[in-house]
Amino acid sequence: MSCVSAGSILANLDRARFDPIAVGITADGAWVLGPEQADTLAKNGRVMPSVDPTAAPLTLTADPTRSGALVSLAAGSAGDVLANVDVVFPVLHGPFGEDGTIQGLLELAGLPYVGPGVLASAAGMDKEFTKKLMGAEGLPVGRQAVLRPGHGSLDEEDRARLGLPVFVKPARGGSSIGITQVTKWADLDAAIEHAREHDPKVIIEAAIIGREVECGVLEMPDGTVRASVIAEIKMPESNTTADGAFYDFDTKYLDDICEFDVPAKLDDDVTAQIQDLAVRAFRSLDCQGLSRVDFFVTADGPIINEINTMPGFTAISMYPKMWAKSGVAYQSLLSTMLDTALARGTGLR
Ligand SMILES: Nc1ncnc2c1ncn2[C@@H]1O[C@H](COP(=O)(O)OP(=O)(O)O)[C@@H](O)[C@H]1O
Ligand SMILES: [Mg+2]
Repeated sequence: MSCVSAGSILANLDRARFDPIAVGITADGAWVLGPEQADTLAKNGRVMPSVDPTAAPLTLTADPTRSGALVSLAAGSAGDVLANVDVVFPVLHGPFGEDGTIQGLLELAGLPYVGPGVLASAAGMDKEFTKKLMGAEGLPVGRQAVLRPGHGSLDEEDRARLGLPVFVKPARGGSSIGITQVTKWADLDAAIEHAREHDPKVIIEAAIIGREVECGVLEMPDGTVRASVIAEIKMPESNTTADGAFYDFDTKYLDDICEFDVPAKLDDDVTAQIQDLAVRAFRSLDCQGLSRVDFFVTADGPIINEINTMPGFTAISMYPKMWAKSGVAYQSLLSTMLDTALARGTGLR
């Protein structure tokens, strides 16, 4: 996923202003140069550019006196500086990318980067704290129960409080992986076990009935924060099971079968309310740069589902589409995000 987003960004970047160096991270966590062909692949459709584990190994030094140095780890040239970078676009989704860890490394290195900082990235990745922080600001979030590592199942009190159906999720997941909708309590433990394959901490949420919409938030270089037009994700019939519609990984990322309405057909006041909530959600976590805030529009108004601090940037991703419909074309969106990162600089802020 991250590779597809990165390829798309490389293909759309303003080359007159930016000279990108692609760095891939292998499944094992090793950093390598490339793939150089990523932008070409992205231009040719949704071919997944992959990271070549045999490509030149490198590392980013965390030493701020050598800020931005990409250092070779290749035998024979180990220690050579391959490039000096001014700003990083951490196009990484999920844990160890979108969760504050890489942001922490970039802070240590004294290197500006696109997107939210350590705290917002960590809080936005963790569904428990996303809801706790937003709830503390009075923002509308659903009911949840948290099962910490080693904590077996839901007690009677929580079952009564949440009611059926519930959504069982890895606390720090993404892309719908490990998520199960449970319609009878007999199925709960299997769903918890499934979620635990991805994260020892599990979140159980009351199901929310409503249309699914998303709103992009973008910070400008001068610090002002804008909300995009809203997108609605329409569930295809084939994805509707007896248990109810569910926007799963394949539908989201691999198939072209989901329909999107951009801008979503909503009353003007509901649109304004969602845009206002999106900006407040962004601020509640102390986000910076960008985020995508996802909602359910219920009969009682919008409820925030989650925030993505590094949303998808593929050719079919909502974030760049929503901005395009808001008058910010992909290339200028990328330039804005990089300019905001450079304007923000490094250090406590
Ligand atoms: N509480 C809920 N009520 C109803 N549907 C939900 C709920 N939580 C998740 N879903 C469905 O599951 C999808 C994935 O859940 P989400 O929390 O967005 O996880 P991820 O971080 O993996 O994207 C949502 O887009 C929605 O379709
Ligand atoms: Mg989601």
